[in-house]
Amino acid sequence: MHLSERLRVSDDGWRLVETGWDADRAPHVGTNFLCGNGYLGYRGTSPEHTADDLVALVVTDTYDTVGDGWQELVTAPNPLLVAATVDGSPIGVATAERVETSLDLRIGEFGARFAQRVDHALVEVDVRRVASYDDLHLLTQRWQLQADADVEVDLVDGVDGVVWSLHGDHFRTVDLDDRDGTIVAEARTVEHDVRVVVAAASTRHGGESTEVDPVVEPRRRFRRHRVRLPAGTPLVVDTVAAVVTSNDVDDPGDVAPALARRGRAEGHEQLLSSTTDAWRRIWDDLDVVVEGHLADQTTLRFSAYHHRICTPAHTDHLPIGARGLSCQGYQNAAFWDQEVYNLPALWLSEPHLARNLLVYRHRTLDGARRKAERLGYRGAYYAWMSTDTGDDVCPDVFFVDVLSGRPIRNHFNDWQMHISPDLATTVARYVEITGDERFLVDHGAEIAFEVARFLHSFVLYDEVRGTYHCIRLLGPDEWHENVDDNAFTNHQAHDALAFAVDTHERLAADHPVALEQLRDRIGLTDDEVAAWARVRDRIALPEPDPDTGLIEQFRGFFELEDVTPEQVRARLLDPGEYWGWPNGVAVPTQVSKQADVVMLLWLHGDRFESKILDANYHYYAPRCAHFSTLSHPAHGMVAVRIGELDRALAHLRTTATVDLLSTAPSVVGGTFIGGIHTAACSGALQVAVQGFGGLGFADGRLVVDPALPSAWTALEYPVAWRGHHLRVRIGSDGSVSIESHADNPGPVEVVVRGEPVTVEPGARAAA
Ligand code: BGC
Repeated sequence: MHLSERLRVSDDGWRLVETGWDADRAPHVGTNFLCGNGYLGYRGTSPEHTADDLVALVVTDTYDTVGDGWQELVTAPNPLLVAATVDGSPIGVATAERVETSLDLRIGEFGARFAQRVDHALVEVDVRRVASYDDLHLLTQRWQLQADADVEVDLVDGVDGVVWSLHGDHFRTVDLDDRDGTIVAEARTVEHDVRVVVAAASTRHGGESTEVDPVVEPRRRFRRHRVRLPAGTPLVVDTVAAVVTSNDVDDPGDVAPALARRGRAEGHEQLLSSTTDAWRRIWDDLDVVVEGHLADQTTLRFSAYHHRICTPAHTDHLPIGARGLSCQGYQNAAFWDQEVYNLPALWLSEPHLARNLLVYRHRTLDGARRKAERLGYRGAYYAWMSTDTGDDVCPDVFFVDVLSGRPIRNHFNDWQMHISPDLATTVARYVEITGDERFLVDHGAEIAFEVARFLHSFVLYDEVRGTYHCIRLLGPDEWHENVDDNAFTNHQAHDALAFAVDTHERLAADHPVALEQLRDRIGLTDDEVAAWARVRDRIALPEPDPDTGLIEQFRGFFELEDVTPEQVRARLLDPGEYWGWPNGVAVPTQVSKQADVVMLLWLHGDRFESKILDANYHYYAPRCAHFSTLSHPAHGMVAVRIGELDRALAHLRTTATVDLLSTAPSVVGGTFIGGIHTAACSGALQVAVQGFGGLGFADGRLVVDPALPSAWTALEYPVAWRGHHLRVRIGSDGSVSIESHADNPGPVEVVVRGEPVTVEPGARAAA
C-alpha cells in the first residue's frame, strides 16, 4: 500500500520503498533511509553521491567546534563511495529511471535499485547496505552493476573526505593512504585533536578488470579500474568500512584498518547475517504490533527503528540528539526531549537504556553546575542543549530575522529552566517504575538535590501573598519568552522539590552512610532541605479556574489576543519568518508553538479531574500551531485520556509520519533543523503503548488500561519490567491477554482495568 504517491510499504509492514528521484526530496530520503546503530549513522544516499547530495557518516563522541561556530558531531570521511561510468556515461540515481530506495526495518538494510540507458545498453544497479549491530564500528555495502549488452565500466571506489558539514570544517588534517588494498583516512578534529579514522576494505569481482592510476586529490582517494563487462555478468563491489576514533581506543589508526580487513575476510553476507540476528533480538524487545492498519503498523516500526538507532546503547556517556545521528542538525545535542520523550519510551521495554541516559545526566552535573553559577544560581541548571560535558551549547542566537537579516536573541539557553525539574521528575519516575534503588543512591539523589538547590535559588518569594514564583522564563511554548509562573514549569518544579525532600528522607532511613557521604561531598545542610520543603509547599501552582476549568498557561496569558494560528499566519510578511520572541506574529497572541498546558495535562493528568483535562485540551488544541514535533504526541496522550480516540489517532499519525511525509520544515529562520525527529519517534511509540495500550505504573504495580481506536483490530507490545518479560495483547473487543516469558523469575501481577491479574512464567492470562 502507498503512504504517499512516492512511498509504499510492503504487505508485512517491514519494508518502505520510495520510487523515483527528486533532488528536493533527497534531504528527506537521506534521513528516512538512514542506517545506524547508536554509534554511527550513515544517511540513505546512493554510493555515487558526494557532499552536495548530503552524504553523511555521523559518529558519536566526536563533538567539535570550529572558531565561533556551533559545536556538533563530525561527519567522517565517506568510506562507501562507489561510482561508475559506463561507456562514457556517469551512472547514478539522478540520471536513472525506475529508481527505488528502500529500507528493510527488520534488519536495518538500506537498498537502492535503478536502471539507466546508456547508448546501446540498459544498465541496472542494486545497492544494499547495513550498519553492523554486531560490531558497531562496521558498515557493509554491496554494490552491483549489470548490463544487457557488453559494456566498458570505469569504476572508482574509496574514501571521500570532502564532507557535508553544517558549522565548519572540523578537520585540521585528513591523511589518506592505501595500505595493502585498504584505503585509510585519518582525520584530526580542530578543537580536541580527536583522531577519526575510517578504513574501507573492498573486494571486486565480475568482468575483466585492469587497475589504473588511483584518483588522489586533497581529501579524496579512490581506486580506479577499467572493467570489460560482458552482457548479463554482475560486477560486484563489496565494501566493509570501519570507523574508530581516539575517543574509543588509543590507536584508531591500527584498529580501524584491522577491523575493516577482518570484516572483508568475513564477507558481506556474514556481516549481514550477524546483524540480522542482532536485530531479531532487538525487535523482541521493541516490536509493537498493530493489526488492522498496515500504514500505522509500518510507521510505528519506522519510529521504533529510528528510535533504537539514535540511542547510544553501548555507553552511559552520551545523550540522544534531537536529530539522532541522521545529520548534524540541532548540534547532536540532547534537549528536554530526552527525558520527557525518548526515555519513557524505553523504561518499560529496555530499562537499562533509560538508565544509561540518566547516568549520562549524572556525569554531566558539573556542566549544569557551571551553568547555574554563571547565571547567578546555585545547584544544577541543566543545559538546554547538552553534549558530552553538559555545558550548554545552545547559542544565544539561533535564528535570524529573515526580513532584516538581523540576529534574534532567543533565551532558550538561559531562561528555559523547566529542563532541570524535567530531569529530576524523570529520575523520580524511573526509580519508581524500575525499582532501581542503586541508581537512586549512586546517581539519582545527587541530581535531585542539585536540581532542588537550583530551584530554591531560582524562585522569588512574594511577601504579600506568602508564595514562591518562577519568573522570567520560557515554558515549553518557545514563542512566548520572558513569562512568569508558567503552569507546566511550576508544577514540574513542585514535583522536583518534593522528590528531593522525599529522597533525602528515604536515604536517611535506608542508606544513611551513602547520604552522609553525599551531603559531605556537595555540602548539603538540613536547613537547605527544610527550605526545599518550604518552597514545595508554597510555590504558586496555577489551578483550573472554578468556572471555566481552564488553567492559564502563564500569568497574563488570557489577556493576549485570542486568534487562531491561521489568522496569525496570514499576518506573516515572509513565510520563513520566525513567529516567536521578540517581535514575531504569535507573541501578542494566545497562539502557542507547541503543547504547553497540554504538557501539564499529560504529565500531571492524575492531578486533575477528567472534565478539566477535557476543557483544557479543547481550549488549547485549536490555539496551538504545532510548530514542534513534540506537540502532537502530547495532545495524543491527553486525547486518549479523555476518550477522544480518533483525535488521538490523528495526533499519532501526524507524529509518526513527520519524517516519512516530510511535513516539518528543514530550515527555520535561516537555520537548518532537518534530520530525523527522535522525539516524534518516541512520542509516537508512547501514544501507541502508553496511550492506546494503557501501559502504566501505579502503587508499585504494572497497569494496563487500554482503549484502542476503531481502526485497529489488535495491539500487541512487549514489556520488560523488573526482570520480567511480558507480551500484552489487546483485542478490538477490549480483551487483554498477558503472556509471561518462560524464563521469568516468578509470577507477576498486572492490574488490568483495575483488576489484579497474576501471570506465571511461561503462562498466559486473560482479562
Ligand atoms: C522545540 C523544543 C525542543 C527542540 C528540540 C524545538 O523546536 O520547541 O521544545 O526541545 O525543538 O526538539
